[in-house]
Amino acid sequence: MAIYDEASKALAFKFSDCYGNSLMKISIIGTGYVGLTTGTCFAEVGHEVTCVDNNPEKVKMLLEGKIPIFEPGLEELVKKNVAAGRLKFTTSTEEGVKNGEVVFIAVPTPPQPDGSVDLSFIEKVAREIAVCLTPDLGYRVIVDKSTVPVKTGQKVAETVKRYAAEGCEFGVVSNPEFLREGSAVDDLLNPDRIVFGSNDDHATMIMQKVYEPFVAPVLVTDVESAELIKHAANSFLALKISYINAVGRICEKSGADIEKVAEGIGMDDRIGRKFLNAGLGYGGSCFPKDVKAFIAISESLGYPFDLLKQVEDINEEQRKLFLDKIREKLWVFQDKKVAVLGLAFKQNTDDVRESVAIKLIHDMLAEGADITAYDPQAIETAKTFGQLDGKVTFAEDIYSCVDGAEVLIIATEWPEFANANLSKIKEKMAANLIFDGRNLLDQDAVANAGFEYISIGRPATGSPA
Ligand code: UGA
Repeated sequence: MAIYDEASKALAFKFSDCYGNSLMKISIIGTGYVGLTTGTCFAEVGHEVTCVDNNPEKVKMLLEGKIPIFEPGLEELVKKNVAAGRLKFTTSTEEGVKNGEVVFIAVPTPPQPDGSVDLSFIEKVAREIAVCLTPDLGYRVIVDKSTVPVKTGQKVAETVKRYAAEGCEFGVVSNPEFLREGSAVDDLLNPDRIVFGSNDDHATMIMQKVYEPFVAPVLVTDVESAELIKHAANSFLALKISYINAVGRICEKSGADIEKVAEGIGMDDRIGRKFLNAGLGYGGSCFPKDVKAFIAISESLGYPFDLLKQVEDINEEQRKLFLDKIREKLWVFQDKKVAVLGLAFKQNTDDVRESVAIKLIHDMLAEGADITAYDPQAIETAKTFGQLDGKVTFAEDIYSCVDGAEVLIIATEWPEFANANLSKIKEKMAANLIFDGRNLLDQDAVANAGFEYISIGRPATGSPA
């Protein structure tokens, strides 16, 4: 992809003199989405990086230059930096702590049933790092990269102090990440901002060196503010999405067009057009979890964040209202041939965590629909993590997916779907009904191709065949 290629070329040029003579020694504990992309991009700008993961098979795979996720551009960068000797993978936390003067924690922080964050992986890694620290290693910065509730840094510091040998010196920093899946490499190499929170000058100075190769504004705060920035930012973006989806409902009731409304309000640069795309709502591994967590954190601190509860409710209703619209047309789902385009929680990823598309499919399966689905990347993950194996027929492309279908549903905003050949789809389908859950298609083009078209927050077009 052009963007990261250009970005990495620019950085390679800027730091070409540093290559082979690394800038800093960094370790990352956890090679999930965040850990792997962060570690790889640190290596790309010239740092010497050791990535630690407790899964030996994963480490073996990474050493062979294979990556366990689909993320544009990442595999090439992993291979390149492993070959250049700047990127290492190991199962040993001890090696990580020895090698890295800065040790990033990037392990999962999954939600608990009540919405609060499970911090047991963070606590475990804090203990593991502590027992690997020795006074002769010198000062270490322990950086929390995972998304955690405010005050976690304090807990990490207390834990490391409790388990580390006498005389070990360290500082704890919070450094939230703002990468988006599907554009993670570009987001990391060209960040719009870098935020870290530190209550210790020595740690602040080291962190400034870590981020020196990046051309972006750096905001240094106290640890607690940095932790809060992450939850507040993601919750605000989720709020923007729910807001536009709520306005979309008013558009549907009044005959207005949400696309035009979003354009009009987005032209105010205090508001901005980004994240005002009406649709089936947000999914993924971040927004649903982080909004829930922020509600739980706020409540535990004595503030009931009702505004965010509404954000969640609107998001959940969005799928149900869409399903109602389909049901109203089909009358019953039982035995209806339904084609679904999109399984991932958004475009450019194979991630199906909290994917609205997957939830929608499960809803329709429960009512007896006969579903064929296609996604450019997420079929395997939909089968396993999405629990659709054996329940849905998976197609190899758009056109075999719609073959014989009575209704077509667009559930994910892949550009490939927006550019599909509508006449070819029309020929293949048994009926002419399209439900577009991402407002991806051009209304005139769909009407001209002879479809009845129902989308989100826009008047329906076309008429039954
Ligand atoms: C999100 C944030 O955008 C990142 O800044 C953050 O670092 C990341 O979470 C994280 O916490 O790790 P991500 O979950 O990868 O990134 O995906 P987004 O591009 O934000 O999309 C989230 C969901 O919102 C998707 O389901 C997408 O379909 C939906 N969305 C997005 C809309 O429905 N409308 C929009 O206008 C934009």
